[in-house]
Amino acid sequence: MAPMLDPPRDCPLCPRLTAFHAANRRAHPDWHNAPVPAFGGLDASLLIVGLAPGLKGANRTGRPFTGDYAGDLLYATLLKLGLARGDYRQRPDDGLTLIGCRITNAVRCVPPENKPTPAEAKACGPFLVREIAALPKLKAILVLGRISHEASLRALGQKPSAHVFGHGKIHVLPSGIRLIDSYHCSRYNTQTNRLTPAMFETAVRLAAEL
Ligand code: URA
Repeated sequence: MAPMLDPPRDCPLCPRLTAFHAANRRAHPDWHNAPVPAFGGLDASLLIVGLAPGLKGANRTGRPFTGDYAGDLLYATLLKLGLARGDYRQRPDDGLTLIGCRITNAVRCVPPENKPTPAEAKACGPFLVREIAALPKLKAILVLGRISHEASLRALGQKPSAHVFGHGKIHVLPSGIRLIDSYHCSRYNTQTNRLTPAMFETAVRLAAEL
């Protein structure tokens, strides 16, 4: 039997996140309110690892970054660099397709206040391990933020302490996979200019060229 790539709808691993889903299902029965599956084909050579679904974005729509503020910059950049085709309209039925890349999250379920705990990131780790193993052409992983950096290193069997996070850094891992760090394209980071669209484009381009 093929390994389960996505957590089941009622994944019991993180009680706090399960309770948050339950509350959101009561408040918004028309939302996705479940673990958000990865987006993109299994023939991807680039995997982009975000943090976790946003409450009113990916948790509502069911597609990573879709409807989230961070998605506006991410999808605009992918379209500009030829890593996506179509129109991004903040909804999963917009027909957007990814080219050679796939997008997932270090934590598949929406966390309260956008902050997963370290235990939740660890509990979701096996899904990232399977995600990576399911991509036979994988060459590079673009990690968005420090939590995704650490989760991806762990998923690749590496100690996070051996690879310090830094925007624009490339970490060459024993398997040959390159891990490229970027600050997360969040509203906070872009509005404070910690991450400008040009900086983000450079990091995505770097990852795509590898
Ligand atoms: N939406 C996602 O799916 N992931 C993020 O990291 C941020 C917003």
